Amino acid sequence: MSSTDEPEVGIPEIDRQHAEIFSLQNKICGLLEEGAGQDRLMPEMDRLSEIMDAHLLYEVGMMEQAEYDELEGHAKRHEAVREAFARVAEKIRRDGAGPFNLAAFRIDVVETFCAHVINCDQKMAHELGESSA
Ligand SMILES: [Fe+2]
Ligand SMILES: [Fe+2]
Repeated sequence: MSSTDEPEVGIPEIDRQHAEIFSLQNKICGLLEEGAGQDRLMPEMDRLSEIMDAHLLYEVGMMEQAEYDELEGHAKRHEAVREAFARVAEKIRRDGAGPFNLAAFRIDVVETFCAHVINCDQKMAHELGESSA
């Protein structure tokens, strides 16, 4: 897995979930770019919503178990990720594919999620790794 260009945190299950999310986000960018209809777009958006929610809960469970002291702040950042996704999902549900919604998806979903992985998840994984060592 070290040959990917994805930001890895070093916990294999978390990295697997992140990779699955990045890959589906990229697929949705492609659909938005080609102007795909709601019939193709919405099932992928629903699936992304599901796997992102499951992932965020999985991380919270892991942090609870490890009694991670920054759990509360990290969970708040998860709420921001979910809210950004919900905003864009609503726009796409209403207006469908188009250049503006593609830009909004890239910024509010892809960038927000990627920034969270780099700024929060890598730190968490590092600290959980240290405390279990
Ligand atoms: Fe994560
Ligand atoms: Fe996280």
